[in-house]
Amino acid sequence: MIKLAVLVSGGGTNLQALMDALESGSVTNAEISVVISNNKNAYALKRAAEHGIDAISISPKDYTDRVLFEEAFLNCLNEYSPDLVVLAGFLVVLWKDLIRRYSGRIINIHPSLIPSFCGKGYYGLKVHEAALARGVKVTGATVHFVDEGTDTGPIILQKAVPVQQGDSPESLQKRVMEQAEWVILPKAVDLIANNKVSVTDGMVTITE
Ligand code: GRF
Repeated sequence: MIKLAVLVSGGGTNLQALMDALESGSVTNAEISVVISNNKNAYALKRAAEHGIDAISISPKDYTDRVLFEEAFLNCLNEYSPDLVVLAGFLVVLWKDLIRRYSGRIINIHPSLIPSFCGKGYYGLKVHEAALARGVKVTGATVHFVDEGTDTGPIILQKAVPVQQGDSPESLQKRVMEQAEWVILPKAVDLIANNKVSVTDGMVTITE
């Protein structure tokens, strides 16, 4: 059984999808040990607490210095010694110490088909605004390992979602979440928890 730490900043619908998949048994061999947020008002924390999961907020606002925040956050994470760190709508740019400590054991969900609409500045609705501005007919979501770049790590899973005429950034975001994010994030956790994911030279191989 692998131990997961899920890092969140907002609503936590991806966290919810993961908790549901664990409860229904579509994700096996994993359990969520802790949910940590940089935002004490994140609804994701309520979702976690309702499921009896430790829900902790560590906000940069409570520290005079960024380094002290990063230290406190990492110490808290380390206390749970997770096998896998899942970024599920975590809006803090990860810092080197955390990435190095959990190298190869951090995954992120991004709401586009990487390498489109990703990298610095592409988060939340901005991703969908950019997809609509470019006029793409297909977008989607990507689960990838996190390395020291922004959205540059090895790609684990992707799922395409059609753009519809008349879409707003909000309607597209909703479709991408429902049809792609909530499907491939739990799926990626299940594959990793069951030892079906390997990485060679930056490329992921999945054995089903
Ligand atoms: C999702 O669109 C995710 O891809 C992005 O942030 C959003 C988080 O939503 N990184 P939620 O908090 O899981 O509802």
